[in-house]
Order: sequence, then structure tokens, then C-alpha cells
Amino acid sequence: NNHCSSADAAIVIEQWQQVSSPDAAAQTKLTGGRAVFKKLFEMAPGAKALFTRVNVDNFESPEFNGHIMRVMGGLDVLVNYLEDTATLDSLLAHLASQHAVRAGVTKGAFELMAKVLMGGLPKVVENFNPDAWANCIVPILNGMSAGL
Ligand code: HEM
Repeated sequence: NNHCSSADAAIVIEQWQQVSSPDAAAQTKLTGGRAVFKKLFEMAPGAKALFTRVNVDNFESPEFNGHIMRVMGGLDVLVNYLEDTATLDSLLAHLASQHAVRAGVTKGAFELMAKVLMGGLPKVVENFNPDAWANCIVPILNGMSAGL
């Protein structure tokens, strides 16, 4: 099986609400997403060039804010579909094809993203459960980078 257990999924979905509840969502996702990309570019400076179209050089620009929110919105949908693996697979296949067409996007970058998320999420999620999150996040990132 390519997905985390439904027990792990339930924990992750429940804990993710701390980040994505309607009253917290817009700001937590934007600042959290910004922190994720900042860390990603520190660890892999070359990856920054992939995001010139979305104005990465102006990190707080409307264009890069928009990019961050597309990514975080995507992650939000994936997490909320962890227990419906057929739909999750369909979502992942779609995201995989959207990433496969972007020259320079590598599987390594997704592995790095998994590390960055696992390092950052405990800062915004109380009682963060590292096992459940690792079990669920790694297959998601693998699925999204399947075509790379
Ligand atoms: C674009 C999701 C990780 C590279 C996008 C888009 C979404 C998305 C929803 C917009 C697609 C569109 O409108 O065409 C995600 C999620 C990720 C993730 C949920 C992991 C949690 C990554 C990683 C890389 C990457 C690790 C490589 C460093 C890109 C690029 C674009 C993109 C280059 C196109 C930016 C543009 O619009 O010019 N991603 N992504 N993504 N993603 Fe990802």
C-alpha cells in the first residue's frame, strides 16, 4: 500500500486543522508557506530559478503570495483526502503531471520539501505526531513527484 494507514490519516487530518481552520487559515498558510520556501531555497539555492515566473525575487509580492497559496491550498486538499485513497491518487496524478512539465523540478526537491515540512510543522502544530505525519507526508510527496 502506497498510503498511510487510516489511523495515521485521522491523526494528520485532525492536527492539520490547527493550520487550516477557517479563522487561522489565510495567515498561517501564507506565513507558514513562506517559511517553507525560504528554508527550501536556503537548502537548495538553485531551485529558486524555477519560480521566476511567479516573482520569487520579491518574496512578499502578490505573485509569490499567490504561488504560496496555490501550493498550500494543494497541500490542504491532499491532507483532507488522506482517507479517500482513490481520490487522493487522482489528485496526486494531476499534481504530478503539473510538476513533470516544469523543467528543472527534481525528485530530490520533493524529498527536501518533505524534510522542510517535517521540520516546520511541529512549530505550528501542537502535540505534533511525527510518525503519523511522516507516514502520510512521504507518500504524498512521492506521489506528486512520480513522473520526475
Ligand atoms: C506549481 C503544489 C512542491 C515546483 C505548483 C502548483 C501547485 C503546486 C498547486 C500550481 C500549479 C499550476 O497552477 O499550474 C505543490 C505542492 C507541493 C509542491 C502541494 C508539496 C507540498 C513543489 C516542489 C517543487 C515545486 C518541491 C520544486 C522545487 C513547482 C513549480 C511550479 C509549481 C516550478 C510552477 C510555478 C509557476 O506557476 O510558474 N505546485 N508543489 N513544487 N510547483 Fe509545486
